[in-house]
Amino acid sequence: MRVVYFLLTVSFIGMIAMSFHQRSSGATEEPGKDKAASQKAFAAVYKVLMSPRCMNCHPAGDAPLQGDDSHPHMQNVQRGPEGKGVYALKCTNCHQPQNTSGEHMPPGNPKWALPPADRKMVFQGRSPRQLAAQLLDPRLNGGRTKEQLIEHVTSDTLVLWGWHPGDGRTLPPLNHAEFARQFKRWIDKGAYLPDK
Ligand code: HEC
Ligand code: HEC
Repeated sequence: MRVVYFLLTVSFIGMIAMSFHQRSSGATEEPGKDKAASQKAFAAVYKVLMSPRCMNCHPAGDAPLQGDDSHPHMQNVQRGPEGKGVYALKCTNCHQPQNTSGEHMPPGNPKWALPPADRKMVFQGRSPRQLAAQLLDPRLNGGRTKEQLIEHVTSDTLVLWGWHPGDGRTLPPLNHAEFARQFKRWIDKGAYLPDK
C-alpha cells in the first residue's frame, strides 16, 4: 500500500512539475508578441521615416529641409510657433493645397506645415531606438495612442503625400501599403524598441 501511495505522490509531483515547465517555457513573451519580428519591422519603418520625403518636415532645427540632400529651406523659411511659418513667409503663401507641377515648384497639401514649436517631432539625427521611443511617447507624439499612430501613418494626407511628392522628387524606399503594414506589425508584435 505504501508503495502505491509513494508512486501516486511521485507521479502527482511529476505532473505539477510538467505543467509548470510548459507554462514557463512559453512565459518569456506574451502570446502574439515577438521581439525579433517587432524590431525587424521597425527597421523597415525607420528607413522610410528617415527618407527625405518624411525627414524634410521633421527636421532637428527650425527650418524645413528641401531636396534629396535635405538642405535647409531657401529664403530662410522658419518653423514659427505653430509650424506654419512667420510673417511674409507663411508656408501657404507658396505651398498650395496640391502640388504645383514642374520641377522645383512647391509641393502642396491643405495642411502643409512643420510640427509646432512646442512639439517638434524631430526625426533628423534620431537613432532607431530614440525615434521608436519618441513615437510611442504621448507627450512627444501629439497625445496619440498606438492605434492612433497606426491610423496616422495609414491615412494622414501629409504622410500619403510622401508617395505623391510632385515632379522630380524620389519616393520613400518602401511603397505606402508595405510601410503601413510594417508599422502595424512593429506595434502588433509588441512595439519593442530597437537595441540601439
Ligand atoms: C517663398 C515660398 C515658400 C515658402 C514661404 C515656403 N516654401 Fe517650402 N518650398 C518652396 C519651394 C519652391 C519648394 C520646392 C523646392 C525644390 O523642389 O527645389 C519648397 C519645398 C519645401 C519642402 C521640400 C519637400 C521635399 O520633400 O523635398 C518642404 C519640406 C517645405 N518646402 C516646407 C515648407 C514649410 C513647412 C514652410 C513654412 C514653414 C515653407 N515650406 C514655406 C517654397 C516655399
Ligand atoms: C509637410 C510636412 C510634413 C511631411 C511631408 C510629413 N510630415 Fe509627418 N507630420 C507633420 C506635422 C505638421 C505633424 C503634426 C500633426 C499633428 O500632430 O496633428 C506630423 C506628424 C507626424 C507623425 C505623428 C507622430 C510623431 O510623433 O511624429 C508621424 C508618425 C509622422 N508625421 C510621420 C510622417 C511620415 C512617415 C512622413 C513621410 C511619408 C511624414 N510624416 C511627412 C508634417 C509633415
